[in-house]
Amino acid sequence: MKIAKTVVSALMAVSAAALPAAAQDTEKAKTLDELATMFDVSSCKDCHTKIHEEWAKSYHATSLVGSPRTLATIATTVQDGMMKEWGKSGVKNVKDITVEHMMSCAKCHLPQLKYATDEVAQEIAQAALDFLAAGKAGDDTKKQAAIAKVSQVGINCIVCHNLKAITHKWVDGEVEPNVIYGSTDGPHEDKKFTSMKKSPIMTESIICGQCHGLGPNFDLPEPTQCATLYGSYLHSYIPSGGSQTCQECHMHQDNVGHFMPGYRSASSASRAVEMTVDAHGYYFLPKAGDSIPTAVVKVDITGKAGHRIPDG
Ligand code: HEC
Ligand code: HEC
Ligand code: HEC
Ligand code: HEC
Ligand code: HEC
Repeated sequence: MKIAKTVVSALMAVSAAALPAAAQDTEKAKTLDELATMFDVSSCKDCHTKIHEEWAKSYHATSLVGSPRTLATIATTVQDGMMKEWGKSGVKNVKDITVEHMMSCAKCHLPQLKYATDEVAQEIAQAALDFLAAGKAGDDTKKQAAIAKVSQVGINCIVCHNLKAITHKWVDGEVEPNVIYGSTDGPHEDKKFTSMKKSPIMTESIICGQCHGLGPNFDLPEPTQCATLYGSYLHSYIPSGGSQTCQECHMHQDNVGHFMPGYRSASSASRAVEMTVDAHGYYFLPKAGDSIPTAVVKVDITGKAGHRIPDG
């Protein structure tokens, strides 16, 4: 079991002054289409076909849409949070929205947004608001159009195999442009990502922990709290003797690979808890002739996931 990096990270939260390395392009994306092109992974499909198929079905692929509860919640964050309750956010209408505002969610749901201009943040906010309004008006065409717009971007190969591939930058350095991070160093056949380097964290839980949350995000001007699962993994599962990584349970088990299923998958859900039920019946006789059938049921439930459930 490898927890070295995990432990170090808990002790020293070194913040990352990341460079626009994954993007290569020095210019920021000015539209959502441009951001999608900057992080395009269609070429990966030719050679890593199975992985691409697994990923395309995952929640990571459409990380702004979700079930589609995510898109609806982004809309209410803008409408009820930024425009109403958060009086000092500076947002009165969509045109006031900046990348920093959208980072409240994009920090984990779309980290590449930092390579885009405020106009892209506004496009995403507008699509989320359109989605909510279309839902209320029962306009399915508009709803689908909003989903299609934000589905162009998501947590894809480049996000994990470049952007998020190094956590401890004062030890391991910044991620480099045109490099795909995996298990080894060497040349790589892709036209844009022409070399491979070893990521110090790719097989460790911390790569997932970057987004699967510790608790409130105090680094944000208006701290939000969404996923907190990495906190329970670190503070509950590991101290009680747990030794598996996220990858072992969510990628290697059942060979599910990049689909990385959660509770919506029947096989994952079936491993969530171990339950033993012990029952026996007897008659309770409060007074002669008045016997009441009674049962004693003892249920033991043990969590088998590597973290609190439900969590995220
Ligand atoms: C022309 C074929 C080709 C294309 C296109 C391609 N790859 Fe690869 N990739 C390879 C080969 C061959 C290897 C070496 C070993 C292997 O098969 O895993 C490799 C290795 C990798 C590894 C490292 C695997 C390890 O050992 O940990 C990652 C990660 C990866 N590619 C991701 C990508 C991504 C992301 C893209 C798209 C941006 C991409 N590849 C495009 C052929 C390709
Ligand atoms: C860049 C941030 C990021 C990284 C890195 C990341 N995730 Fe996620 N993950 C997310 C987000 C955001 C979602 C939810 C998307 C949605 O539904 O809105 C998600 C969804 C999931 C789900 C599905 C949960 C469900 O509701 O069914 C699982 C399981 C999961 N991730 C596991 C992992 C594992 C394992 C790793 C590491 C190998 C990992 N993730 C790395 C951000 C990330
Ligand atoms: C949420 C993060 C995440 C995303 C998105 C992601 N990967 Fe990976 N990938 C990983 C992790 C973690 C491993 C290492 C798993 C292990 O060895 O335990 C890995 C392993 C690999 C490997 C080497 C091992 C293998 O399974 O063959 C290749 C090649 C690869 N990924 C390619 C891709 C491609 C191509 C995409 C996009 C279609 C992609 N990955 C998207 C996290 C991710
Ligand atoms: C010992 C195996 C195991 C380990 C280790 C593990 N998980 Fe899970 N995880 C599960 C199981 C089983 C479920 C399904 C629980 C359910 O049905 O509610 C699950 C569910 C999830 C979900 C969906 C949320 C939920 O409440 O069901 C996410 C997201 C997730 N895991 C991410 C991670 C990440 C990230 C890590 C590492 C920090 C990790 N898991 C470590 C077994 C594991
Ligand atoms: C610390 C990283 C992080 C931040 C910040 C974050 N999220 Fe999440 N969010 C996640 C991860 C990881 C998941 C996947 C866990 C799961 O689905 O169980 C998730 C899941 C969700 C889900 C449930 C997915 C579904 O469709 O069922 C919603 C809704 C959501 N996020 C909305 C938001 C909104 C809105 C914001 C901004 C106000 C936000 N999140 C900020 C990491 C984050």
